[in-house]
Amino acid sequence: MKAPEDLRSHRWFGGDDLRNFSHRTRARQLGYEPEEHLGKPVIGILNTWSDINPCHQHLRERAEQVKRGVWQAGGFPLEFPVATLSETYQKPTPMLYRNLLAMETEELLRSYPVDGAVLMGGCDKTTPALLMGAASAGLPSIFVPAGPMLRGNWRGEVLGSGTDMWKYWDERRAGRIGDRELAELERGLARSPGHCMTMGTASTMTSAAEVLGLTLPGAASIPAVDSAHHRMAAASGARIVGMVWEDLTIAKVLDERAYADAITTVLALGGSTNAVIHLIAMAGRSGISLSLKDFDEIARRVPVLANIRPGGDWLMEDFYYAGGLPGLLSRLTDLLHLDRITVTGQPLADSLADARVHNDDVIRPRDNPVASEGGVAVLHGNLAPGGAVIKHIAADPALLSHTGPAVVFDNYKDLKKRIDDPALGITADSVLVLRGSGPLGGPGMPEYGMLPIPAHLLEQGVRDMVRISDARMSGTSYGACVLHVAPESHVGGPLALVRDGDLITLDVPSRTLQLQVEDAELERRRASWAAPAPRFERGYGALYAEHITQADEGCDFDFLARAGANPEPDAG
Ligand code: FES
Repeated sequence: MKAPEDLRSHRWFGGDDLRNFSHRTRARQLGYEPEEHLGKPVIGILNTWSDINPCHQHLRERAEQVKRGVWQAGGFPLEFPVATLSETYQKPTPMLYRNLLAMETEELLRSYPVDGAVLMGGCDKTTPALLMGAASAGLPSIFVPAGPMLRGNWRGEVLGSGTDMWKYWDERRAGRIGDRELAELERGLARSPGHCMTMGTASTMTSAAEVLGLTLPGAASIPAVDSAHHRMAAASGARIVGMVWEDLTIAKVLDERAYADAITTVLALGGSTNAVIHLIAMAGRSGISLSLKDFDEIARRVPVLANIRPGGDWLMEDFYYAGGLPGLLSRLTDLLHLDRITVTGQPLADSLADARVHNDDVIRPRDNPVASEGGVAVLHGNLAPGGAVIKHIAADPALLSHTGPAVVFDNYKDLKKRIDDPALGITADSVLVLRGSGPLGGPGMPEYGMLPIPAHLLEQGVRDMVRISDARMSGTSYGACVLHVAPESHVGGPLALVRDGDLITLDVPSRTLQLQVEDAELERRRASWAAPAPRFERGYGALYAEHITQADEGCDFDFLARAGANPEPDAG
């Protein structure tokens, strides 16, 4: 146990020099008497709330409940607004800024008198960003997930974020619904605060945070507007104070076993393909090397048990009522490391002691899984030497072994302009290829990976096709979409060499992605390929372009992913 003099914040407030005097003076300026904060753990609450992020609109209020818990446990809470990454509004994609929030998180925690951190996020990139930064900063840290929004509703039909938006947009393009129906859908899709309530990237990553051991048990599944969410926020605030006294740093929670369990859980959830990139990056910050191989190996022994859209039938609200993440984990205990410590200070096994499943269709038993193998398959081949991924459980099974002629789009603009052009001669057997959408080419790997199906095929009833890109795909999306092709086309990856009409073979059972073109011909094409001119000459974009790594390496900045000196500031 720590003594008050051992607290990091003591260096700012506790001594007897000019700077300590100045810091105490300014604490009085903030309105606090010394006895309200001296000798108490200072808890930094990093809040990604903002007016532009609908998924986090309740976090301003929820931070007050975190503070309530901190005060009750004898700590001193200070809220820090940090970059809000709104999946809906930030362009070209918040993924471009994930590492910026990670840097901000790390440097705020390092440079201010903070003893422990409460991290408040949930909308897709906010979770990995906050956790990457906190892992690098190394303080005791607890994550407060934003929680999923309520189910969507349209004419009595349950709607899922993203998933049903894509579905009904296609119905509109096919001429099956009109403006009136679309206006009703616009009102019914997102009905409350909270992140997407499908098993998209948000639910996947907050669940990953929980199984990593960084939230209170059950926290990730609680709907954002449920009273239990208020209580969880207050309890998290109280718990971080205890973690500071116990010196339960984030490094003591995040070990190799924790990341293996996170992969297992994400796969059993049928979670987002984005988790592959984020978990590799997060593990890198913990000094642990994860690779696509780890995902593939674990996927072969983990069944999908969560029957949640887009790979299943239900939504996160149903998942919560069915027992939530603890319920699911209680069915995976033989695949998890139950003896490792979580933020509770107790083994993971203790968090699952009372876990139950109340609906066997939402959280399937092991003998009746949604799919017998994990939800993500890793592919290799001459088209993806560094690897690619596909969420095969959300694809038409008939397309998982498929050969077809390529129709190539150089970038998203090109795709939007030409996808419905009848002159392209696209058939249901064609393989749609999008390049120029990777970490550098996008930039930021925008979620373009679920390429639209041409309107004339939609009208014929076609709802899935093989699509290949170096982009990502929203976790709420679905279809036979091969994603994260590495290396990306922008740096000369083989995707840059594909031409219209080339045959491409996708074979998920053998985990291969092959361009049926002779090596000699590919070499000829490579010789005439010219690297694109740099897009950014200044600003954050230039820093990003210089240091971003490829998808199979987690898309972290090379200088953040490595170990090395980064000294504590002198508080004097
Ligand atoms: Fe925020 Fe989906 S838009 S989680």
